[in-house]
Amino acid sequence: MTDGAVASATVFDPVRVGDIELANRVVMAPMTRNRADARGVLPDSAATYYAQRASAGLIVTEGTQPSAAAKGYPGTPGIHDDDQERAWRKVADAVHAAGGRIFCQLMHTGRIGHPSLIPADARIVAPSAIPAQLEVARADGVMVPAVVPEPLTSQGITEVIGDFASAAGRAVRAGLDGVELHAANGYLLHQFLSPGTNRRADEYGGSPQGRARFVIEVAAAVAAEIGAGRLGIRISPGGQFNDMQDKGNEDTYLALADGLAELRPAYLHTLRRRSSPLHRELRHRWPTAYVLNTGYLGASELDDISPLIASDAADLVSVGRLFISNPDLVRRWERGVPRAPWDETTFYSGGDRGYIDYPAAHEGQE
Ligand SMILES: Cc1cc2nc3c(=O)[nH]c(=O)nc-3n(C[C@H](O)[C@H](O)[C@H](O)COP(=O)(O)O)c2cc1C
Repeated sequence: MTDGAVASATVFDPVRVGDIELANRVVMAPMTRNRADARGVLPDSAATYYAQRASAGLIVTEGTQPSAAAKGYPGTPGIHDDDQERAWRKVADAVHAAGGRIFCQLMHTGRIGHPSLIPADARIVAPSAIPAQLEVARADGVMVPAVVPEPLTSQGITEVIGDFASAAGRAVRAGLDGVELHAANGYLLHQFLSPGTNRRADEYGGSPQGRARFVIEVAAAVAAEIGAGRLGIRISPGGQFNDMQDKGNEDTYLALADGLAELRPAYLHTLRRRSSPLHRELRHRWPTAYVLNTGYLGASELDDISPLIASDAADLVSVGRLFISNPDLVRRWERGVPRAPWDETTFYSGGDRGYIDYPAAHEGQE
């Protein structure tokens, strides 16, 4: 650096995000691992799994249901009862003891669910009665065609918002540092944002502001419960995962960003494959920390993510699969230690294999 030049940030620089200080700008991306029991309680190995990965500046947990009715996959954890909360406390304590920080991702799967996974008196809900054209998992793991969801009533909307807020309260009581709302990848919040899944004629649809309203109301309720400085929101504008038709929906994302910005959440977390005018505009408008995930392009290696920080395209970058197979990923990058490949067959397999048995470099590679 020459005199007077301002050094650009690197992924290893600390950063403040909302209420918390992070040791670096690498976020472990949320990843469903299906290790919880049928009651949505995580095993003790989850505390080991997350603590092993505490070199990330921030860990975002696997998608976690804020209510029993929000569950959409076998083996996902919940954060809506006392047993689940106790398991999360072990996770939070272990991560903090290892020097890390951790947000819980709250995920309501909406139409990407199956009646066998939710209580008998609950319903598969969505903004509108439009089924996803794909197969979903039953409680026994068998894949079957998605059901036609029931449109959420206004009372149902109020209940879901309340569920998110009380789950966020539990997360913080369990010692987790905050929550991330999953408004990406075709789940309930994303279903409200997208005209392909939201055909509502009431105030929750019909216009960019209408489609953005539900997510903003969920965020406002969570911020009122735990403070905006402990709230992040994840979006995937234009994403097609889970049978979404979200192209040409830029105005909804701008309305969403403007509505959320008034709350001043800790961060906005955007998933994208490549940049677009919308992404640049979101980055430009967003008033607090901006997290990017370049989603399945390559391996999210240091050479891929460093330019995003150096060029100020993002304040932080999230990394998914490399964290599964490299628990000490940030340390490896710092010391130039080679990265281990991941084994896709154990992503969702349950059990400890492929979960807590990837060694840190000092245990294996050096
Ligand atoms: C096994 C697995 C589970 C995932 N589960 C979630 C999830 O629960 N919530 C979410 O927002 N994204 C989820 N994702 C997406 C990741 O957060 C991330 O966007 C994706 O892996 C791309 O980043 P990468 O190329 O660094 O892996 C998952 C990805 C994988 C591989």
